[in-house]
Amino acid sequence: MAKIVFKRDEEIFEIEMPEGAKVVHAAFKLKLPEVPADCRGKCQCGTCHVHVDPEWVDKIDPMELDTMELFLLKRSKNYNPQLSRLSCQIQIRDEFDGLTLRLVDDNIPKS
Ligand code: FES
Repeated sequence: MAKIVFKRDEEIFEIEMPEGAKVVHAAFKLKLPEVPADCRGKCQCGTCHVHVDPEWVDKIDPMELDTMELFLLKRSKNYNPQLSRLSCQIQIRDEFDGLTLRLVDDNIPKS
């Protein structure tokens, strides 16, 4: 199990997740509106975009370049080349305990 942490400004959302789940599954369980994940984890929509905490960027598995991930990220409003990942492409491992991600507002309509 690993604790996955999402941050929205100063708000913090945490959940314990089993090894093998994806980070997007943690966002589903927490019902986070920033992560609608419209394609349900098939790496087709880009709506599961998050920023990885700089402390964790080099600890998680790198992006696989034969997927659509980079293409989709580059089209995202808050794309950051150092921090952006699709949460459906990050597989959780026990050693990722405390993995921290910042929510981005790509999918939140402006009021
Ligand atoms: S859920 Fe659609 S790309 Fe991740």
